[in-house]
Parts: sequence; C-alpha cells; structure tokens
Amino acid sequence: MKKLIDLITDEVKQAFEDKGYESKFGMVTLSNRPDLCQYQCNGALAAAKIYKKAPIMIANEVVDSLKGSKAFEKMEAIMPGFINITLNNDYLVNYLNSISQEERFGCEKAILPKTIVIDYGGPNVAKPLHVGHLRSAVIGESIKRISRFLGHNVIGDVHLGDWGLQMGLIITELKKRQPELVYFDDNYTGEYPVEPPFTITELEEIYPAANEYSKSHPEFKEEAKTATYLLQNGKAGYAALWNHILNVSVNDLKKNYENLNVSFDLWKKESDAQSYIPGMVEYLKEHNYTRISEGALVVDVKEESDTKEIPPCMILKSDGATLYNTTDLATMIERMELFGPDEIIYVVDKRQELYFETVFRCAKKTKLVEENVKLTFLGFGTMNGKDGKPFKTRDGGVMRLENLIGSINDAVYQKMVENRDMTEEESRTISKKVGLAALKYGDLSNQASKDYIFDIDRFISFEGNTGPYILYTIVRIKSIINKYNEMNKTSDRGEILPSVIPSEVNLMLEAAKFNDVIEHSFYEYAPHKICQYIYDLANAFNSFYHENKIISEEDKKKQQSWITLITLVKGILEQCIELLGFDAPDRM
Ligand code: ARG
Repeated sequence: MKKLIDLITDEVKQAFEDKGYESKFGMVTLSNRPDLCQYQCNGALAAAKIYKKAPIMIANEVVDSLKGSKAFEKMEAIMPGFINITLNNDYLVNYLNSISQEERFGCEKAILPKTIVIDYGGPNVAKPLHVGHLRSAVIGESIKRISRFLGHNVIGDVHLGDWGLQMGLIITELKKRQPELVYFDDNYTGEYPVEPPFTITELEEIYPAANEYSKSHPEFKEEAKTATYLLQNGKAGYAALWNHILNVSVNDLKKNYENLNVSFDLWKKESDAQSYIPGMVEYLKEHNYTRISEGALVVDVKEESDTKEIPPCMILKSDGATLYNTTDLATMIERMELFGPDEIIYVVDKRQELYFETVFRCAKKTKLVEENVKLTFLGFGTMNGKDGKPFKTRDGGVMRLENLIGSINDAVYQKMVENRDMTEEESRTISKKVGLAALKYGDLSNQASKDYIFDIDRFISFEGNTGPYILYTIVRIKSIINKYNEMNKTSDRGEILPSVIPSEVNLMLEAAKFNDVIEHSFYEYAPHKICQYIYDLANAFNSFYHENKIISEEDKKKQQSWITLITLVKGILEQCIELLGFDAPDRM
C-alpha cells in the first residue's frame, strides 16, 4: 500500500506541475502546527525564488488547482506562502479501511531485497555479559527485525570474542590452580573428558582474577602470551580447554540472550576467521598495499581531506601476532564469501568509531570488500547511572546483565502485587514481560548514538513515555475488544466510518502513519522512531478512549466502527513492539 503522505504528495506535485512549476516543489510534510492543519507544503517559498514570483501567488494557484480533489477537506494558502492541508475524512477512512484488512497494515516489502549482515551482541567468551553488551544486543535485535519485516534477507551474527590473550590468561590461571589436569600433561594427545573442569560461575571468576594478576606479574603475562600462541598453533591440551571454555560460555550466553528475547542466526566466532588471515596477508603484500612501520605490517588509510588524525591500519604486530583489526578484516572476507552481502552493519559501542573507520577504509582501499558493499558503523552511547557516570553496581563494580534484568523484574513485581488479585505465578510471568518492555523501551526510545540515564523508577512507570505504558495501552484495548465480543457474541469487524470527533480523527491520522514510520526507522537505523510513534499512537488512543465511552455507546454502527478502528490500533502497536523485541501480556 502506498504511504498516505506519498499519495498526498503526488496530488500536490501534480498541482504544481499543472500550474507550470516543477513538481519537486510539491513535497508534503506532517504539519508542525497540528492545531491548524494536518499536513503542509512549503514548496511555494522555494519555487518563488526560481520563478521570481511572490510565494503566496504560487501557493494560491496550487490551492486553486486542487479545489476539485477528493482528498482534501481544507486547503489554504497562508502568508508568506505556506500551504496548509487538512484531509477529507472519507479519504482518510478509506485508506484506513484498506490497511486494516492487510496483515502488514499497509507496509510493503522491499522490491529489491538486500542481503544484510548485522554484527551485534559481540560478547566475549568467559567474561560475564555486562550492561555494555545490553545495548548492542537490544539495538541490533530491533534493527534485524525491522529489516526483516521489510523483506530483506538478514543474517544476525553474534561475532563471539573467543580469540586473543584472554584465552591464554584463562589457561595459565587454570594451570596455576589445577596443574594436575590432564590437559597440561605434555603427552596429552586430544582425547578429553566430556565434563568441563569448571562451571560458568568459576569461569567468570577465573578471567578477572587472571587479568588482575597479570597486571602486577609480568612473568605470568608472558606465560599467558605463550599459552595464547600455543593454543593458536594447535597444542592439543589447550585446544581441548578452549573447547570447554567455549561450550560453557556459549550455553550461558544463549540462556541470557533468550531472557532478553534476542536470538542470532549465526554463532560465529573471531576464531572462525583465522584461517583467512594467511591468504589475506599474502594478498595485501602482493598488491603492495602494505608497508613496514617499526617492524609492524600496516596499511595506510589516511586521506587528504581528513581533518583528524587517522592512524594506519595494523595487520600484523612486529612479532607477527594478529590483532582485533586483522580478525575484523578476515571476518569481512569470510562474510563476503559466505553471504555476498550488500551491507554489513556493526552495532558496537561508539567509542570504537575511529577503529571501525580505519578498518572500513582499509577494507575498501585494498578491495577486500567491493566498492558497492555498504559498511555501516552503528555506534551506541553509554548507559549511565543517575549520577551521569557509567552504570555501576552499588559497590562500584560492573553490573552483570543477569542482575540488572533480575532487579527490574523484581521492581515490576513489587508494583504489580500491591493491588492486583493475581497468583504468584501469574505475577511473576507478567512481571518478566513488563520488565523486559521497561528495559528495552528505556534503551530503544533514545537515539542509539546518545548516552542515556538508566532510571529504573521511570522505566517501570505505567505512565509517561515508557514500555509499560505502551503495554498497558495494548492490554486496555484487548480488554475492550473482549468485552465487546462477549456482549455481541461476535468477533466480526465492520468498516471504519467517517468521523468529526477530533480525538478520533487524530487517532486515525496516527494509525495511518505506520508504514511511513517503519520505513524511516529502517533507512535511519532508528528504532527510537518506532518508540516515538507508538507513544504518540498510545496517547492518541487514550485521549480518544477517555472522551468516548466505547462499551456503553448506543449507536451500534458507530460502536462497531470504533471497535474496528481500535483493533487496527492494537494490531499496529503489537507489530511495533514485536519490531522492538518485546511483547504484551493479556492483562497486567
Ligand atoms: N567483542 C567486542 C567487544 O566486547 C565487540 C565486537 C564488535 N564486533 C566486531 N566485529 N568487532 O568490544
């Protein structure tokens, strides 16, 4: 279904053309004075400069030309040359009746679907998931769902951090603690016990301990580096340990992501790209893209137009070791080979922006990635505490994601049990849904690149711009519809009828925006636009609901029309929260 704003724009463009002006001046936007009109066109002001006429004259001509149009109820030229537009309600209602019969509420799939790889989550093996990983998971998941809803072929990859020194540190620490383990036996050949020699809780304690210890013990760090080297070169006992570490970690991560309603199509790891490195280094050298700088192999990526210092992209350190860069470049080769994507989107902390700039430039310059493949860095800001500093636990430690989710669910639960007659079990289940909505909406309602303040009391409030408020609105609509269906012994829907009630017309206008909002949120990588929209839509519904008594309405035709309209609104709200990555309970 064509977007309503495009249908209107088409008419206005035609009018400009009919009057002898270029059609591009007929762009229509939403009104920024909703008290005066619903849409507006400011094109006459720009056209006036080209055609050397007073803008108001052009505006008047256009308005005049649209006199006979069925689409408009009121069209006015306003000094100095604005065109204020109000739709004919029949026209709007027609549009709504068409989209309400569509499963996708008028949102069309892309005609030319793209293949898009989304790199998000990015947890590191053996390190507990912390709130920093929350944003990547939550934002990436939503971008994935939005892109997929629009018909694109999307591959979400967790890109697990399983390579590098952290592995050597864990192995060395284990050796210190349990030297008797079979994996440290020099004759060990690869048969290894199925049971891992640690639990996830132990593992999560081992890494920070080893990391801390290595800072003050250079010999330990050296040993860890050697262990890393041996692991990467296939030492059987270390490979077996690495496998255990991976399995234990991944099981735990999957559980955590499941709780967040986040799922990945691929569980690829940094280590998977390693086999591409030797060939890549060869290729880069052969084509003279590299030079040696202080012993290291680098690619220069500076450009003349740069206003900031862009360091070279380092491929190999002077000791021949690979780096984060090397892995990311090799992963690009792997992705090009496996999926041939049109775009790769990286959802990563914005503090890595310069790093990605360097890697992207290197990939393009060296043609590891073709010119027409879009590489997108979607950097997100920091989640801060109420003090404006990065969010921490009460004793100043890093807050684990699991605990964060737990504390939100508990807070919601406390609110719910206060004055509701629910069983313990039901309250717990609902609290989980509401808690997830609070957490995700609290995050997604901010523009991704901005820092935001994690304010649990605000996030779980049932009023204001919050996830629970949106859920509450959906639950309210569900209950009205259920009541209506029971009273009328039907779930048949009729048509939406024209109306002059301002709160109803406003609700109609909001509902009609759905397809436009979804497209914008896709092109701008902006789930927050969906949040803004559903907040407006929920507000529009609640104003309408408070002004009109739907269930006791005596005019049955009107009542049925209202039920059809709010069924559409419910469908849109539910579709939107699904795109954000959470869902609504039946009651709360
Ligand atoms: N594991 C990394 C970290 O914790 C994030 C990975 C982001 N993705 C990438 N392709 N580099 O910082």
